[in-house]
Amino acid sequence: MAKDLDSMEDSNRSANPSIHEVCDPTRRVWLRQSFGAAASVWFAPWLASCALPGGGRGPALGFKGIAPSTADAVVVAEGYEAQVLAPWGEPVGIAGAMPAWKQDASNTAAEQALQIGQHHDGMQFFPLEGSSTRGLLAINHEYVDDGLLHADGLRNWTVEKVRKSQASHGISVIEVELRGGRWQVVRPSRYARRITAHTPFDVGGPAAGHPLMRTAADPAGRRILGTFANCATGLTPWGTLLSGEENWYGYFAGGETITPDQRRWGLRPTAFYRWAEHDPRFDARKHPNEFHRVGWIIEVDPMDPASTPVKRTALGRAAHEGAWVAVTRDGRAVVYTGEDARFEYIYKFVSRDRIAPAGNGRTAAQANRQLLDHGTLYVARFDADGRGRWIPMVHGQGPLVPARGFADPGEVLIKTRQASDLLGATKMDRPEWMAIDPASGWVYCTLTNNSSRGVGTNPGVDPANPRADNTMGQIIRWKEDGDFDGDAFSWNHLLLAGDPAAERPDAKGNIQGDFFACPDMVAFGPRGLLWIGCDVGPAALNKGEMSRIGNNQMLACDVATGEVRRFLAGPVNSELTSAAFTPDGTTLFVNVQHPGETPSERSNPDDPRRVSNWPDFHPAGRPRSATLAIRRKDGGVIGS
Ligand code: FEO
Ligand code: CA
Ligand code: CA
Ligand code: CA
Repeated sequence: MAKDLDSMEDSNRSANPSIHEVCDPTRRVWLRQSFGAAASVWFAPWLASCALPGGGRGPALGFKGIAPSTADAVVVAEGYEAQVLAPWGEPVGIAGAMPAWKQDASNTAAEQALQIGQHHDGMQFFPLEGSSTRGLLAINHEYVDDGLLHADGLRNWTVEKVRKSQASHGISVIEVELRGGRWQVVRPSRYARRITAHTPFDVGGPAAGHPLMRTAADPAGRRILGTFANCATGLTPWGTLLSGEENWYGYFAGGETITPDQRRWGLRPTAFYRWAEHDPRFDARKHPNEFHRVGWIIEVDPMDPASTPVKRTALGRAAHEGAWVAVTRDGRAVVYTGEDARFEYIYKFVSRDRIAPAGNGRTAAQANRQLLDHGTLYVARFDADGRGRWIPMVHGQGPLVPARGFADPGEVLIKTRQASDLLGATKMDRPEWMAIDPASGWVYCTLTNNSSRGVGTNPGVDPANPRADNTMGQIIRWKEDGDFDGDAFSWNHLLLAGDPAAERPDAKGNIQGDFFACPDMVAFGPRGLLWIGCDVGPAALNKGEMSRIGNNQMLACDVATGEVRRFLAGPVNSELTSAAFTPDGTTLFVNVQHPGETPSERSNPDDPRRVSNWPDFHPAGRPRSATLAIRRKDGGVIGS
């Protein structure tokens, strides 16, 4: 939805022995035995410097960069091919329930609930038995374009259209397999699953059962229907998916009386999505606590389609982009999160307990079912001297007391933003994805843009957010003092994005190599390359100071030298929203989100001036978000 609403050589490489020692085959076996087979998902062999099939030597950036593209096509580096694997509307593969996609978008809500949703965003690959040719993809469907979703768009708005929109949100789990050099969706599959805005969730952590979480339909405040606005994804070492609920406030209608608390979270009189017209859950006047039941990090076990997903309240409520996990030396989980909204914050959660091994008939996911429910949440303050502090968000400490509006620990987590305001945390330029360098322990975070910075009465520049009217964005990184649970860190910028030839000094940037704007997705891949996906909005793309940048793209960065090279460009007005690798690094799965998006994010289905019809180019069809599978033609490691 409308996002504008609002020297690296590390002297302490052993900061995370669990990661560093992954190259030791003995150690890797230990990890698998400890955390279960799923541990290999996260401690993937390509993460460190082990020999790689297809070429583990030579320069880190081993491909020829592409030129900026304005074509309605996927353009990928020479020697690679990109296959469209999983577009919106195809059945996920539930046995006996596989309705076919209809080009005129006339599939019903019930059919959509069995099909891949719209607007693919974060995604992770879960190998089956460690395989690089067979596994699961868990795909977030962040939002929808109701103009494309329904055959006649937004006209004649009905409860059926609300249900279809809700069914197109959430998460798809599909099984995929490489056969004869091409990836295929396995149908039927016992793993195939849809999670939508109606799927029951458990609630874990201190806000479970809190009075502010109770509703007429759920007087205990422990059972929530659905997830939506799921943006980025992360993996846990115990083999589960973490997904962030991001722009959820736009689904609620507040009417004329909006409280200061609701206003702080962006509630408006009228919702952007028209669910409230037929589903009273989204009318905040009738059910004000529903507004508190979203904005959480959710955890899903994709290996067990019968498992109930959980909202993890100990990680705080926010406009969460996603969540990324590191492990302390003694085996506790540290989860980094941020909220993609102007002048909001970066967080980390440190678990109280150690990650438990699989065993006694339990998978690692089952053994760690409560791990993220107990621990301490911190918010980041970036200081001027390249240093920073993690400020604990503990009820009863400092301003987090009843007299300031925090009755108990649950209320601190429900009102994370207000708590961070009082604690003096740093107001950031829209934190998007994060990525933890497995070799060095540096944590990278994209700050996509903030054109309100330094404008009018808004906060001005600061060392971490150094540009006014920041239309281009930057990538910041930090390294904890000691272990990942440290309370202080050092930080700097990997780069400031922008065209170095831009007229406006604040739009120039300092990228070495191929330039880009508005970094959003980041993920580490084979040989330590940092993959970067960009998100310039359709109103700004290929115009003005963006005129030389081209369609949204994916690039790779050698973080040791800072060099950036353009690898992939998306179709017109699309965004490339994830980078998920097979364990051997020879397939890269990428999501193409919202090809042909209009600045209003609501297409007119009859508009003959449609700017994209990717990927089908069907005369009666419409553009579809889709998962790509990208391979080197010689089968080698991606990027090398
Ligand atoms: Fe959904 Fe912050 O991008
Ligand atoms: Ca994003
Ligand atoms: Ca976008
Ligand atoms: Ca974005």
